[in-house]
Amino acid sequence: GVDISKLLATTGVITLDPGFMNTGSTTSAITYIDGDAGILRYRGYPIEQLAKSSTFLETSYLLIYGELPTQTELDAFTSRISRHTLLHEDLKRFFDGFPRDAHPMPVLSSAVSALSTFYQDGLDPFNTEQVELATVRLLAKLPTIAAYAYKKSIGQPLLYPDNSLGLVENFLRMSFGFPAEPYEVDPKMAKALDQLLILHADHEQNCSTSTVRLVGSSHANLFASVSAGINALFGPLHGGANQAVLEMLEKMRVEGGGVDAFVKRVKNKEPGVKLMGFGHRVYKNYDPRAALVKATADEVLADLGADDELLQLAKQLEEVALSDEYFISRKLYPNVDFYTGLIYKAMGFPTRMFTVLFALGRLPGWIAQWREMIADPTTKIGRPRQVYTGYAERDWTGMAER
Ligand code: ACO
Repeated sequence: GVDISKLLATTGVITLDPGFMNTGSTTSAITYIDGDAGILRYRGYPIEQLAKSSTFLETSYLLIYGELPTQTELDAFTSRISRHTLLHEDLKRFFDGFPRDAHPMPVLSSAVSALSTFYQDGLDPFNTEQVELATVRLLAKLPTIAAYAYKKSIGQPLLYPDNSLGLVENFLRMSFGFPAEPYEVDPKMAKALDQLLILHADHEQNCSTSTVRLVGSSHANLFASVSAGINALFGPLHGGANQAVLEMLEKMRVEGGGVDAFVKRVKNKEPGVKLMGFGHRVYKNYDPRAALVKATADEVLADLGADDELLQLAKQLEEVALSDEYFISRKLYPNVDFYTGLIYKAMGFPTRMFTVLFALGRLPGWIAQWREMIADPTTKIGRPRQVYTGYAERDWTGMAER
C-alpha cells in the first residue's frame, strides 16, 4: 500500500532493493557463481575438481591467498595452523558457563567473539602480520571450539588437540574420542567430512559473508566480524537449513502421512511449512554442491550406517518435488543442505551440530572475503539507505493528552 513514487519525491532517488535481489555490494575476485548454469568456482577452479582432488586446508589457502600452494607453502601453512589449535585455559572455562542444553552455534559465536579479548595483539585490520596471525588462529581454533561446544553439550570431558593429526582428523577425535583412550579415525569419514567442508568453503556474498564484510567495513577486527557471520549463519533460511532438513524429515516420519501429504502442505503455503533444503537465491537450475553432496551420500552412507528410513523419505521427497509443477515453475531444486544432514547424522553428529559443521567449512571464505575487503582501498563503511515510511513531523504531546 506504500506509494513509492511519492516517497521518493521526499527522499531523492534511492535504489530500493529489499533482500538485495539485484544489488551488488562489492567487486570480488574470490568466488564465481553462474546460477543459471549451475557453476561454482573458487579462484577460477571448478568446485567439482576441488571436491575431487583438493583438501580443505589446501582450498582454504587457495581462497585466502588466491593461488594453490606449492608443497612447501602448504606444509608451512599446515604446520603453522597445527601450532595454534590449543585454546587458552581461561577460554576453556567459558564452556562451563553456558547451560548444558545450549545450542552450539551461539556457543561458537560467543567463543569466537571472546578471541578478541585473548588476542589483543592481533586486532589491527591494517597490520599485515596481525591479520595473518588472526587468520591462522581462527582456522586452528574453530575446530577445537566446535568440538568443545559439542562435548560440553553431552557432558563429556574435553580433549586437547593432537597436533600430529590433520585438521579434520583432529576435529573428529576431539568430537568422538575420550581422553587417554586411543581413537581410530575412520579415513572414509575423514575424507567425506573434508570434502563437505570444501563444498561449503565460500559462496560469494551470501547472508553470513555479507555480514562479515559489513561488520568488518567499520574496521571491526577479524574475530568480531567472523563471530557476527556465525550468528547470521545460525538462521534456518541460511546455514540453519541443514538442521531444519533433518527435523523436517524426522517430523514427517513421526507424523506419518507420507511425502505426498507433506508436499501438499508446502504447496498450500501453510504457515511455517517449507520444503527445507530446497530453493536458492542464486541457483535457479541446480546447486552444483548438492549434486556433489548427493554423490558423497551415495558413496558413504552405507558404510557409515545411515538412517535408511530418513534417507528413503529424502529421496522420495526429492523425486516428488522435482516432478511437481509447483516446484518446477519456481525453479526449486535441492540445495547443498538437503543431503548433508543425513551424512552428518550417519557420522554420529547430533542434529544441532550440523550448522556448526557448516561454519567450520565457511570459515576460510569469511576470512578471504574480509581480507579482500580490508585490502581494497576503495572500501567504504557499509551503510545502506532507506525509504522512510513513518509519520511526517508531529508535535510531542503531554502524557495526559495521549
Ligand atoms: N519450499 C517451498 N516453497 C519455496 C521454497 C521452499 N524451500 N523456497 C522458495 N519457495 C517459493 C516461495 O514461496 C515463492 O513462491 P511464490 O512465488 O508463490 O510466492 C517462490 O518459491 C520464490 O521464493 P523466494 O522466497 O522469493 O526466494 P528467495 O530467493 O527469497 O529465497 C531461500 C531463497 C531463502 C533459500 C528459500 O528458497 C528458502 O527459504 N529455502 C528453504 C531454506 C533453505 O533450504 N535454505 C538454505 C539455502 S542454501 C544455504 O544457505 C547454504
